[in-house]
Amino acid sequence: QREAIGSDFDALIAADQRIEPRDAMPDTYRETLIRQIAQHAHSEIIGMQPEGNWITRAPSLRRKAILIAKVQDEAGHGLYLYSAAETLGVDRQELLDRLHDGKQKYSSIFNYPTLTWADCGAIGWLVDGAAIMNQVPLCRCSYGPYARAMIRVCKEESFHQRQGFEILWTLMRGTEAQQAMAQDAADRWWWPALAMFGPPDTGEAAKGGHTEQSMAWGIKRFSNDDLRQKFVDMMVPQAEKLGIVLPDPHLRWNEERGHYDFGEIDWDEFWQVLRGDGPCNAERIEHRRRAHDEGAWVREAANAYAAKQTIRENE
Ligand code: 3HC
Repeated sequence: QREAIGSDFDALIAADQRIEPRDAMPDTYRETLIRQIAQHAHSEIIGMQPEGNWITRAPSLRRKAILIAKVQDEAGHGLYLYSAAETLGVDRQELLDRLHDGKQKYSSIFNYPTLTWADCGAIGWLVDGAAIMNQVPLCRCSYGPYARAMIRVCKEESFHQRQGFEILWTLMRGTEAQQAMAQDAADRWWWPALAMFGPPDTGEAAKGGHTEQSMAWGIKRFSNDDLRQKFVDMMVPQAEKLGIVLPDPHLRWNEERGHYDFGEIDWDEFWQVLRGDGPCNAERIEHRRRAHDEGAWVREAANAYAAKQTIRENE
């Protein structure tokens, strides 16, 4: 079918076919994808910091090995995503500059601190759980390179979620202090995880949002509120299995809707974090800039090596 249609953008979108880098596309489609993929890539590499904070203090060699592998996976996800963005004609260095200058966003969730070991469990269970819910539909995104990158990312995210669940499972079967630590981490991460899905679909916050257009283009397959609801419905039974009480007195099954009802998200806090005023925004960007500067010699060495290879190939 793809071949029969050729590279007519509207016809490809209408037939739910993939758009590939060489196809003609409206500038606004390209810009939307660059914005979203870059924000996603930035989230992956900034997302290495909260858990990276626990690598030296993981409670056993096994936990440390798993955590190192997980944080490394996040770096890998960032690399696939920057590569996917580059197929749209933007340079990775330019995207990193925009992140470092605060001109492009990364996910709100990574501006919260990891105070105890249980936070690594809560991040795996809740944050990676939310990431999977949001990213599985992106495997069907209309832009080919982004959709293909998401397949492997989602497989790895699903392993991450299970390891987070397993950390909390172990703590919930430990001492009273360990149980309290797991509950406290879930209390702190639950609401920020719900906010991760982005502003609501209706009301003031929805104005100026991208959902409608992105859904028409097949970039987003579900709205923010629909994914948030699916996430709540998935997590409540898991919390019950763990023995964790989710911190929401309004959480209850609604027979009529066939979904869980839940309480109001603090959107003022969300916008505050997006403006740069979250608990860890300054620290995260400062750390990222430093890591980038300290890695300059690696980039220079890689460029020098590539230049040498090119000369050799041309000899
Ligand atoms: N954090 C920061 N900004 C957010 C946000 C969040 N959680 N949710 C929404 N926003 C921003 C949007 O970027 C947009 O800002 P802009 O107009 O200045 O670019 C504004 O709020 C309005 O939101 P919309 O819903 O209209 O924006 P989108 O259509 O782009 O939808 C999204 C937001 C659902 C996050 C979508 O961009 C998306 O699906 N992105 C891909 C997934 C992603 O980036 N995930 C981040 C977490 S990655 C992760 O957790 C992996 C872990 O292993 C490290």
